[in-house]
Amino acid sequence: MTDTSARKTEMKTAMGKGGTSALMAGVAGFGLGMMVSAGRKAAAQAATFAAGDWFEGLKAEHQVARGLLEKLAATREEDMAKRAALVFELQHAMGKHQVQEEYVVYCVVAAHGQADVAESLNADHFEVKQGLYELEMIGKEKRPGFLEKVAAIRTAFESHVREEEDEVFPALQVMLTDAEKTALTNRMNREGFKVA
Ligand SMILES: [Fe+2]
Ligand SMILES: [Fe+2]
Repeated sequence: MTDTSARKTEMKTAMGKGGTSALMAGVAGFGLGMMVSAGRKAAAQAATFAAGDWFEGLKAEHQVARGLLEKLAATREEDMAKRAALVFELQHAMGKHQVQEEYVVYCVVAAHGQADVAESLNADHFEVKQGLYELEMIGKEKRPGFLEKVAAIRTAFESHVREEEDEVFPALQVMLTDAEKTALTNRMNREGFKVA
């Protein structure tokens, strides 16, 4: 008997001796995990969905990110664990927000003749991601400059949000029909759910 066929025989024997039920339990466990995960994701997306349409949902998320940045700005050197937890939370919130905008909203902005605007907003997102990464490293390595980095991220974030809320998104909203608004809202929430 070759090594390969010997292993196959061992596997068949193991399956016969409860291997199948162990495998089934594993699959069931995975299914349960998926359900728990879906429930958690639904809860995470609920606030955005409940805010109303796509624009209101994004505004609500801007407010959440703003609140986390305010909390970070109020931390002190000795609050290392709190800083790390807030940076983690902000990366998750900002990540989901950016995915919704980049994969859906900015694509619609570009499709309505504003590809350059969409590209520039997209570039702003990288600036925020990079800032959060640097913030995480400053915190981990206990380097000075944590609050200065928070302030820089806040400035970049606020300027980006002003452009979205005051200019780009209202302009897009008036170009959309009611059916298009609903479709955009649903599509955006679906994308957010994926990464919630
Ligand atoms: Fe954005
Ligand atoms: Fe935004």
